[in-house]
Amino acid sequence: MECGLIVLTVVITGGINAVDQTKIEWNAVTPMVFGTDVRLVCNISCCSRNQGTAQASWDILRDKISINVAANSHSRDISKYEVLVGENRCSLVIKNFSQTDVNISYTCTSNFKSYTKVLEINEDEFELQPMEDITTLAHDELDGSTYRLCVNFTKVYPKPKCFVQYNGKDLTYDIQHQTFKSGMFYSSYQTIAINNVKDGNIRMTCMIGKSKYVVKEKEFMFKDNSTMSKKVKMMAMVIVILSFIVILCVITHIMNITWIHTRGFCAISLIYIIDVYLSPFVSVQPERGKQTENKIPLLAENTHTA
Ligand SMILES: *[C@@H]1O[C@H](CO)[C@@H](O)[C@H](O)[C@H]1NC(C)=O
Ligand SMILES: *[C@@H]1O[C@H](CO)[C@@H](O)[C@H](O)[C@H]1NC(C)=O
Ligand SMILES: *[C@@H]1O[C@H](CO)[C@@H](O)[C@H](O)[C@H]1NC(C)=O
Ligand SMILES: *[C@@H]1O[C@H](CO)[C@@H](O)[C@H](O)[C@H]1NC(C)=O
Ligand SMILES: *[C@@H]1O[C@H](CO)[C@@H](O)[C@H](O)[C@H]1NC(C)=O
Repeated sequence: MECGLIVLTVVITGGINAVDQTKIEWNAVTPMVFGTDVRLVCNISCCSRNQGTAQASWDILRDKISINVAANSHSRDISKYEVLVGENRCSLVIKNFSQTDVNISYTCTSNFKSYTKVLEINEDEFELQPMEDITTLAHDELDGSTYRLCVNFTKVYPKPKCFVQYNGKDLTYDIQHQTFKSGMFYSSYQTIAINNVKDGNIRMTCMIGKSKYVVKEKEFMFKDNSTMSKKVKMMAMVIVILSFIVILCVITHIMNITWIHTRGFCAISLIYIIDVYLSPFVSVQPERGKQTENKIPLLAENTHTA
């Protein structure tokens, strides 16, 4: 009995191997991207004795209705299908690949041998890339020191995988995401809130199948902006005070007011202001002491002459 089973197994395996050697088979060129041309390559090396004239036909089965789409390596609907004949190969090109081309069976036939397989959607081989420009799908806002970034993919396949880097730190685990089945595809919403944003850069990237998108790249420069505005404010204040003193001094000079300390007051105020407030902007740090030294005798001179 056992012996019989072994013999039977050997016979069956041998039979299958014999069939394999003359097998006709088609395989899709991956990834199969919706909206582009997809190619199914039928290997007819078994059956084409005369390679130059290899002939094959293609049939599809949709809603239980069989349709011959290519006969003798010629397409019957050139707007949708194209046939490419090569060495031991006969390919069916499906133009503008769409949902209706999936989940139907394709049969390749050559020299009375045929091979049938259903083209079933799966996350490893199929892709639907977003139709819109990726930057229009992304929204961001800065609310105080909290930065929120979200991206809303309305129709994609497979599920997007997004990553966030903030100053080189991986914040991918902080991404909240919701992905829904939308017909054959997905709609996916990915959002992140980053608290206490400081200087640096934030970058969100998403993988959809084998395609990588930079969703957002943002540079923050809080420190520079605030010091800059502080500097500008101080500069303006100094200019106002300076012009006030200059006007005052000019007026006292014109009106010939020979109040004893006026000139001295003018000189000392100008020197003080230039020295203390303006030196950081004109960057005369090394000359600071020298300048003061030079001016003080002038003041003394004034007081003497007066
Ligand atoms: C086609 O099939 C034959 C066996 O039938 C195999 O030897 C050959 O490698 C296949 N060619 C391709 C391109 O897959
Ligand atoms: C491809 O098919 C889609 C519908 O599935 C259609 O909107 C689009 O215009 C087609 N593109 C081309 C180039 O034929
Ligand atoms: C594929 O088609 C079969 C029947 O032809 C149907 O039962 C099944 O739901 C379909 N699958 C998808 C993903 O559309
Ligand atoms: C994502 O986009 C879809 C379609 O535009 C919209 O209905 C949905 O409300 C959006 N989701 C969010 C959270 O913005
Ligand atoms: C800093 O200022 C620049 C332009 O002055 C601006 O574009 C940028 O958004 C500012 N950065 C922050 C964090 O406010």
